[in-house]
Amino acid sequence: MNILDGRQIASEIQEGIKQEIIQLKSQTGKTPGLTVIIVGENPASQAYVRKKHKIAQKLGINSKIIELKADIPARQLIDQIQILNRDADTQAILVQLPLPEHLNTWEILDHLSPEKDVDRFLPVNLGHILLNRTHIFPCTPAGVLRMLDYNQIDVSGLNAIMVGRSFIVGKPLASMLTNRNATVTLCHSKTRNLPELVQQADLVVAAIGKPGFITADMVKKGAILIDVGQNFLYQENQVLEYCTEMQQQKFKKKGYGITGDIHIKAFSKSSHYTPVPGGVGPMTVALLMENTLQLFKQQVHIE
Ligand SMILES: NC(=O)c1ccc[n+]([C@@H]2O[C@H](COP(=O)([O-])OP(=O)(O)OC[C@H]3O[C@@H](n4cnc5c(N)ncnc54)[C@H](OP(=O)(O)O)[C@@H]3O)[C@@H](O)[C@H]2O)c1
Repeated sequence: MNILDGRQIASEIQEGIKQEIIQLKSQTGKTPGLTVIIVGENPASQAYVRKKHKIAQKLGINSKIIELKADIPARQLIDQIQILNRDADTQAILVQLPLPEHLNTWEILDHLSPEKDVDRFLPVNLGHILLNRTHIFPCTPAGVLRMLDYNQIDVSGLNAIMVGRSFIVGKPLASMLTNRNATVTLCHSKTRNLPELVQQADLVVAAIGKPGFITADMVKKGAILIDVGQNFLYQENQVLEYCTEMQQQKFKKKGYGITGDIHIKAFSKSSHYTPVPGGVGPMTVALLMENTLQLFKQQVHIE
């Protein structure tokens, strides 16, 4: 079994972006601008946003965070988005999800300029993905494909199962794998015979949000296992059941352990697998940086 090392691949991608930004700055005098809007004080969201900001700054991206109060009226949030839509120094806008409950996600996102939609979640951008008419993809699905490419894994003709159908991961990734000629089964909470379907798959992608949900007995020997899930566990019995030894040590120091949606015992049956943490997570951040650079090049007409 081979580990698909997201940290290593992400750091190589980031180094390439950093060099390209230096070069573009010397040509144009400009640097890519990424602004993240965060509403409320969800600790996980705050941690993700801080991480993205730190990496963006390291790469020479002009990164800004706009922090808004949890009870902000929809109209004020939309006004803020529209200001950024008009701002020539911001080529990439990210609205950190989830939004507080009183805000309707799509009523807000619909006001984002499609060309500045760095997550590529807007219907027009998802439509281009479905039709295989774009080279800019949502960050997590793009990160998954880059890991496969880096390891020269060709998905053409493979039986792939995508467990989870969110618009952030499952739906776009199922389309992207289909466009690469995999035979894709897209599953969700109403799927009846999930274990049988997983057993037939050469490639299993899990984006569910349930620790260790895909168990070793479900997985075919030699399958490629891609674990998008990121679950924080705070109870010792859960950490012992679902986390690697390294995460168990972390739990002793920090009070939590992280694990994915694929049970760690399944990895020994695989040909390749992504660890959690250190797999898809770092790739998502690297691809956010790459998308920011792509949008910058489109909007200042460098391509
Ligand atoms: N590593 C990264 O960079 C990254 C990025 C994004 C997300 N994530 C992680 O990936 C996980 C999923 O995220 P998401 O945003 O896609 O989640 P989400 O919007 O909550 O979607 C979860 C999906 O899992 C399906 N599901 C739930 N229970 C199931 C079951 N018993 N059997 C089969 N399918 C089931 C749901 O089905 P229904 O549609 O029927 O409800 C839904 O489609 C989370 O752990 C999240 O933290 C990681």
